[in-house]
Amino acid sequence: MKKLITALAFPAFMMLISCGGNEPATSDNPDKSTASATESTPVENEEDYSKGIGKFKDVVVSPTLDVKLASAGKDVYELKCSSCHKLSGPRLVGPSWDGVTSRREPTWILNFVTNVDEMLSKDPAAIAQLEECLIRMPNQNLSDEDAFAVLEFMRENDGVK
Ligand code: HEC
Repeated sequence: MKKLITALAFPAFMMLISCGGNEPATSDNPDKSTASATESTPVENEEDYSKGIGKFKDVVVSPTLDVKLASAGKDVYELKCSSCHKLSGPRLVGPSWDGVTSRREPTWILNFVTNVDEMLSKDPAAIAQLEECLIRMPNQNLSDEDAFAVLEFMRENDGVK
């Protein structure tokens, strides 16, 4: 265990100087009103990556929390994720999970955590984050059950009751 911590300390330190994660999106464009409709002409075959890439297609989550599932997700988090992700505050190695369920669709999260290698090579949002974080999230070999549980724990962390 001690070895593991030492192994993680160096990349964690390196990463403190890059890769945001939860800073607000740079929006607030003062001349929104002048944005012309012609700029947003939809591109016929532009792909929609909001749900990520993987076996999950259209997962709909309940508006209320499954407390038992969230608690199983907390166990997964502590075992496999907490060395790189904090639940709030600044990024560790990977982005903090604060607000992750509003940044990403549930389906995207499930695909990311179960299909991380393909997502990091093909999904634009995942690639952008990799470019910021400079470290590839390793495949955590989550079962589908673990993936749903950890998603539920993220929802709890984001205030779903
Ligand atoms: C060795 C460090 C590490 C571990 C362990 C790790 N991650 Fe990550 N994670 C990252 C990094 C780095 C990123 C950002 C993408 C990239 O650069 O690969 C990331 C990104 C993510 C994202 C996207 C976050 C966002 O804001 O869009 C999710 C979701 C995620 N991880 C879930 C998990 C889960 C669930 C586990 C545990 C089962 C886990 N991670 C374990 C390093 C890690």
